[in-house]
Amino acid sequence: MLDTPHPTPAAPCLDQQKLATALSGLHFIGGRYVPARSGKSFAVVNPATGQEVARAAEGDAQDVDAAVQDAARAQKEWAKVPARKRGALVHQCAALLKEHAEELARLIALETGKALRTESRVEANVVADVFEFFGGLGGELKGESVPFAPNVLSVTVREPLGVVGAIIPWNVPMLLMALKVAPALVAGNTVVVKSAEEAPLAVLRICELMNRVLPPGCFNMLSGMGPECGAPLVEHKLVKKVTFTGSVDTGKIVAKAAAEKIVPVTLELGGKSPMIVFADCDFAKTVQGALTSMRFTRQGQSCTAASRIYVERPVFDRFVEEMRKAVDAMVMGDPLDEKTDIGTIISPGQFEKVQGFIEEGKKTKGAVALECSALPKDPALKKGLFLRPVIFTGLTRDSRLVQEEIFGPVTVIQPFDDAEAVLQEANDSEYGLAASLWTNNLKVGLDLAHRLEAGLVQINQNLVVQANLSYGGVKSSGLGKEASLEAMLEHFTHKKTIMVNMG
Ligand code: NAI
Ligand code: MG
Repeated sequence: MLDTPHPTPAAPCLDQQKLATALSGLHFIGGRYVPARSGKSFAVVNPATGQEVARAAEGDAQDVDAAVQDAARAQKEWAKVPARKRGALVHQCAALLKEHAEELARLIALETGKALRTESRVEANVVADVFEFFGGLGGELKGESVPFAPNVLSVTVREPLGVVGAIIPWNVPMLLMALKVAPALVAGNTVVVKSAEEAPLAVLRICELMNRVLPPGCFNMLSGMGPECGAPLVEHKLVKKVTFTGSVDTGKIVAKAAAEKIVPVTLELGGKSPMIVFADCDFAKTVQGALTSMRFTRQGQSCTAASRIYVERPVFDRFVEEMRKAVDAMVMGDPLDEKTDIGTIISPGQFEKVQGFIEEGKKTKGAVALECSALPKDPALKKGLFLRPVIFTGLTRDSRLVQEEIFGPVTVIQPFDDAEAVLQEANDSEYGLAASLWTNNLKVGLDLAHRLEAGLVQINQNLVVQANLSYGGVKSSGLGKEASLEAMLEHFTHKKTIMVNMG
């Protein structure tokens, strides 16, 4: 339905720099690419080289208003499209995203520094899967009949909320965007997304691809800074639902703004996820599990990263050593190189923040810092934000490294002797996003799973997150759920009751 000439190639484009240049300086509003009304733009930087790869439109309240007005107009018509037909269109988007998966993977690797083989390609494929899953759920937007009286028909119907304002972060921008946009659209809402400053390109391309299928105005994408572009989106009076993923501090600002307007808000915030390893676990599988749980391939930039690992004392030393060896064997390098396991940290600011934690940990009395994996030697990468993963031992629960979200390749391993004591330590956290338990004693495992304060607990696996599994934290980790049919129904519709008295 695109009605304007496009700067971007129609076919999948595997030249990520060419695509980045074509996407430069643009929002996507009302079915077309437009520059920021102020004419301003900001740099998008490849964190592996430090070089500017594109400009991004620097949105402000004027752009937000244009996008929301368009989305509000489009929503009236979109809501009239039968729900299964809306789903079918979203399903068609999934097919298009699959065709473009490799292109998107290369683009996201360029702007985020995430390794192509281990991270970016995986994300691009999961994104298509999310749209495919929700595309099939149009027919599930149904209500109930409620027994009332013989002459009264009482039913509930599911109605869309209106324009959804979605704010996303930079760590897995395509996936986190998909988890908001796909259910919102299928439920009959239209969406305005504010992308993360550090990673605006791949999501912008996705928006354009989907606009080839969707009516104009249903899916809009703005780039810009949080206070100047994100805040006016959250505050806009026509935005009837806010969904946010990011830090706890920004989440609180967003929730307050939503409260001012009395609109529902979903928050996916940080985590400090414990991984509890019992001596009777399947050892090799658990060491491997720790590597994936900590998301070392993403430099630990994950809200579910297993950044607190508790290991039963008899296997503690062996576990630390095996884990060190395994992380050490990971290859750090050019994110676009197929041999690379680990890419870069997203930005200089995050780099400094993570380094600050590492320095503090090293200075702590009794702490041991095991620095793993080697920095890349390629001179082209010398300005890259590469940081060696660190495994700490000798830190205790009062350390900031055990309490706060680091969002980097840093994990703390602590020994334990007693299941009750480790449960208490695991729950001694502001956060409650995810947790994992590794044991062959499923009686103990299941008992602890029920008592861990987390939105998601997995035994003998971790980070298995799928479109049909409800996902979201408790405590400061957030409000509400994403993914799953229930999340679509509960967070992107409201239930209206209709009663007919037939006399
Ligand atoms: P952030 O929470 O500030 O940014 C996330 C999104 O919110 C971005 O799109 C940003 O532009 C937007 N935003 C910022 N201020 C806003 C405002 N006043 N109103 C509306 N939107 C606003 O996170 P940031 O600064 O990128 O990272 C800081 C820390 O947050 C990280 O070190 C990490 O600990 C945590 N984080 C957690 C994530 C998660 O998945 N739970 C993702 C990204 C960061
Ligand atoms: Mg911030």
